[in-house]
Amino acid sequence: MKILVTGGLGFIGSHTVVELLQNNFDVCIIDNLANSKMSTVDNITAITNKKPKVYCFDVCDSAKTKEVFSTERPDAVIHFAGLKAVGESCEKPLLYYHVNIDATLSVLNAMDSVPTCKSIIFASSATVYGVPNSLPLTETSPIQDATSPYGETKIINERILQDWAKVNPQKSAIILRYFNPIGAHPSGLLGEDPNGVPNNLMPYVTRVATKQAPYLKINGNDYDTLDGTAIRDYIHVVDLARGHVLALNKLKDFRGVYICNLGSGKGTSVLELINAYKKATGVDFKVEFGPKRAGDVPANFASIDKAKRELGFECKYTLEDACKHAYMYQLKHI
Ligand code: UD1
Repeated sequence: MKILVTGGLGFIGSHTVVELLQNNFDVCIIDNLANSKMSTVDNITAITNKKPKVYCFDVCDSAKTKEVFSTERPDAVIHFAGLKAVGESCEKPLLYYHVNIDATLSVLNAMDSVPTCKSIIFASSATVYGVPNSLPLTETSPIQDATSPYGETKIINERILQDWAKVNPQKSAIILRYFNPIGAHPSGLLGEDPNGVPNNLMPYVTRVATKQAPYLKINGNDYDTLDGTAIRDYIHVVDLARGHVLALNKLKDFRGVYICNLGSGKGTSVLELINAYKKATGVDFKVEFGPKRAGDVPANFASIDKAKRELGFECKYTLEDACKHAYMYQLKHI
């Protein structure tokens, strides 16, 4: 089975490509290197002994995308390509609507031109649940107003896929809602290394632990949670990547729209994550409390019952493993 992966050199994309290759899928990649590096393909090859073909262009270019689909004739697509910085999306909303929506339209148009390309897996996010009314979040929890244009693009993309699936009853749209992916490949060859100042907690902690930033600022310690800091559901990126392989295998004959959460199913506070990081790496670092970050929800974590029951999903790695792997990756890439 051949899988075309858009954004296949990015953080989640590259880990997923490794899992696909290790499970004997054929893989080709479209990536414009907007937030990734060409050298990642060598690291994928070092881990798997296989070299996936990479097409280097922006998937929003629908003529080029169609051309690749007609050459490669993939059986399924995993669509990761898109912009993901919440803060930047508030400053540049049009850029986010343009890139994140045009990319999906381009991929779906290309799929329409290849009848044997039956499924698309879309990289959605827990952000579609907005401020939760109750926890844990299940796939039937309501979609709420997004707190950013980035979040809004995930909601719109989910709607586009629903409408596309209605007129393509012989195909399937699999929407995976990721909670907070963290960690790195245990080999130390793949990981998360954002350009500039990291937005997300784990890459920031890792920069502080490796002395590239002086201290970590915790955004708010007066939330209504046990220790006052915000709660999230952190999932090791390799476990998340394995979820895609399970979805491809288990949903081969599925038609229509399938929605599934991928998380660890456990809530962890910012302070708990910091303590786990210090314990796992043996590194101490300075922490300061700051004000809440605009748009943050106090707590969210997933119910992963559906993923367990229907996909056979389970997490292999602990929070400490994820911290150790993120640290090891950063040490190699300073
Ligand atoms: C955000 C997005 C999510 C997206 C994910 C990955 C929203 C509401 N959330 O998740 O959709 O998939 O990024 O791009 O759109 N924190 C600190 N100090 C820091 C950095 C973060 O205390 O230096 C805190 C945050 O305020 C938050 C927690 O750590 O409480 C997790 O933050 P982060 O890693 O940015 O993830 P989310 O905001 O949950």
